[in-house]
Amino acid sequence: MYNSIGDKFSKRANEIRRSPIRELLKLITKPEIISFAGGIPDPTLFPAYLIEEATKTILREEPEKVLQYGPTEGDIRLKMELIKRQQRRNNIKINEDEILITTASQQALDLMGKIFIDSGDTVIVGLPSYLGGLGAFHSYGAEFIGIPLDEDGMRVDLIEEKLKKLKKEQIKKIKFIYVIPDFQNPAGVTLSLERRKKLIKIAKKHDLLILEDTPYRELRYWNKSIPPIFLLAPRGRVVTLFTFSKVFCPGMRLGYVLGSENVIDRLVVAKQSTDLCTPPFTQGILCEMLKGGALDEHIKKLVSVYREKREYMLNVLNKYMLPLNLPDLNWTRPDGGLFLWMTLPAYMDTELMFPRALEKKIAYVKGCAFHYDNSGKNTMRLNFSYPTMDSIDEGIRRLSQVIAGEIRK
Ligand SMILES: Cc1ncc(COP(=O)(O)O)c(C=O)c1O
Repeated sequence: MYNSIGDKFSKRANEIRRSPIRELLKLITKPEIISFAGGIPDPTLFPAYLIEEATKTILREEPEKVLQYGPTEGDIRLKMELIKRQQRRNNIKINEDEILITTASQQALDLMGKIFIDSGDTVIVGLPSYLGGLGAFHSYGAEFIGIPLDEDGMRVDLIEEKLKKLKKEQIKKIKFIYVIPDFQNPAGVTLSLERRKKLIKIAKKHDLLILEDTPYRELRYWNKSIPPIFLLAPRGRVVTLFTFSKVFCPGMRLGYVLGSENVIDRLVVAKQSTDLCTPPFTQGILCEMLKGGALDEHIKKLVSVYREKREYMLNVLNKYMLPLNLPDLNWTRPDGGLFLWMTLPAYMDTELMFPRALEKKIAYVKGCAFHYDNSGKNTMRLNFSYPTMDSIDEGIRRLSQVIAGEIRK
């Protein structure tokens, strides 16, 4: 037994934070628990049959390619499919050196940290923001400037205000602004067009990079699509991440990054020492599904099912929460994505409340987990894609009872 192994871990290893959500997901796998916690797709919708067909095709037609190591940059045929798709869907025109296939978005967030962040550097993030992004940047020693959100997404006007208070050297240490513009995780809100433009202006003025993370962009159920920041900004100002986790399946671990050639090249070099390449096998399956249009058809189906679930969740919230008659209890009405965000009266604490929720066999994610400064004690994230309609009704009914038990008399 090597007893002193604990002394050998690097400072970095000691600083890496355990993800409360990953830990929570281990806790709530019991079937009797109704979970609004994970940011996970409805497993009954996974296109297993289509994957089976695509797998047969690639194994029959090109086993020597899909079972071999591949280029770190990603399979060129997949890249060409994605380039066409970006042009068709978002009017974004890029060449093959401006795109990198990644082992889903979490890897891209980590690689962005790896190539940009030195210990003590700063990242501007939403308050709240995606926990996995915060964790990845923190593990490279990032410090954060938090910008509150409202129903139109990040309050970009407050970025200006914060920057005004900083010295030039402090602004230099800001490596990027991390923003999830469409149906943000966790808050479900969307950055308005006006704010996207303003954000670009601020980034230009202070020479800052924008990291745009768009996992939910294609899951829109309501209102019109707003152009990606990548399209609105001059070339080089924005790095955009996309993942197939939410629109295909997370088990494939597939995503990609769009950025200027110099950033993509640095990411490629960093990825070489991370995993050599994203599995050519899964890339081959995705490529097959994109070529025949099967994935786009699948996404249409997802959108129609999730649209209904979102609607149902909002109705059920009205049904059970309004009778509580708590003026400070409110929730967001997302135009897409997988989550909504609930704010409770300021004296309530969703972390302290959690054991009571578990007793009633329901789970959510406490809001403070998404705040780098541990604020947001009276907030929680609720997912509506994973539970069935019946569980949504029953789970929200139980949640209303838990909240009722917290009311100060
Ligand atoms: C905003 C955001 N970025 C990135 C990810 C990472 O997803 P994946 O690694 O599955 O692509 C998630 C997952 O929930 C997310 O919500």
